Amino acid sequence: MTDTMRAAQYDRYGKPEVLHVSEVAVPVPGPGEVVVRVHGSGVNRVDAAVRRGAVRIATGRRFPKGTGMDFAGEITAIGDGVKLAVDAKVWGFLPGLPKGPTGAAAEFVVAKADQLSAAPTTIDLVDAGALPMAGVTALLALREYSELKAGEKLLIRGANGGVGTAALQLGKAMGARVTALVGPNNLDFARELGADAALDYHTHGPDQVGPFDVILDLNGANMAGYRALLPEHGRMVCTATKGVAYILFSMIYRERRVRSFTASPKAEVLADLAGFVDRGELRPIIDSVHPLAEIAEAHRELEAGGSRGKQLVRVL
Ligand SMILES: NC(=O)c1ccc[n+]([C@@H]2O[C@H](COP(=O)([O-])OP(=O)(O)OC[C@H]3O[C@@H](n4cnc5c(N)ncnc54)[C@H](OP(=O)(O)O)[C@@H]3O)[C@@H](O)[C@H]2O)c1
Repeated sequence: MTDTMRAAQYDRYGKPEVLHVSEVAVPVPGPGEVVVRVHGSGVNRVDAAVRRGAVRIATGRRFPKGTGMDFAGEITAIGDGVKLAVDAKVWGFLPGLPKGPTGAAAEFVVAKADQLSAAPTTIDLVDAGALPMAGVTALLALREYSELKAGEKLLIRGANGGVGTAALQLGKAMGARVTALVGPNNLDFARELGADAALDYHTHGPDQVGPFDVILDLNGANMAGYRALLPEHGRMVCTATKGVAYILFSMIYRERRVRSFTASPKAEVLADLAGFVDRGELRPIIDSVHPLAEIAEAHRELEAGGSRGKQLVRVL
């Protein structure tokens, strides 16, 4: 094994152009950790927000910083106390905000052994790298936080993005009747992915839709208008930070409460997610694949909006 690796880094906050690839030391696993040779790494909204400096109060001024949270690949080294085997194919995502000198957009990433699981066996490991964070977020939102049941009506606001494309497929697998709210160019795409109905968010505001048992809000604007579409037993989950003020306000409600959460990597949830993939109920939806050297373009496309699923960085 080599001592150095290529890793995406940046030396100041700013536009995607700040991203570059550097030669750095391969990480060494500590107790309870493994090193994973990364095949694919999806770009998430939070990667772009941290790179822009939008949360610099939390991510600080220490540079260089690495980027990327999602990874799928195989284990190349294990730390003390780890029962996993070298060469095992695994997937997961890094917890917290990416602020260290390297992230998952690198040839090797170090991760805690109890925060990853076996990768799905029926899809390519590069493609698998598009799913961990978005898929876990979608699964937690539907299964744990809204307790979606078969036969219920589910609205997904933002069904063409990373979390939305996973939630659409998971919602169908759980037996829900899914309405996808997407941009005008993605109506057919959402139907092909399994949506029972697809509506343009430019022309269908809350006055034109509903009611729904569960709303998954991936946008966070005008949440009051959407919350009004819920019957008394209805549940709404929002993952977008734009919705934070309204979510806090809504805690005073007993019924139709809006919930939010931050997804953290848990081995058992990642294993469940892999199960959905291997049963053929979920596949990563990849808008475009970028080599590591062109990671800036992946960030640019994510921030331009209108994507169908994920921007994926191919590392191997
Ligand atoms: N809490 C957590 O743990 C967690 C985890 C993952 C993600 N997130 C957050 O969840 C949100 C979604 O993440 P993502 O990865 O799916 O992002 P994404 O891939 O950028 O998708 C966002 C989606 O929202 C759509 N959208 C934009 N404006 C809209 C509107 N007015 N009405 C309805 N839909 C609209 C976008 O459509 P267009 O592209 O057509 O504009 C796109 O489909 C982001 O805010 C992200 O930061 C939170």
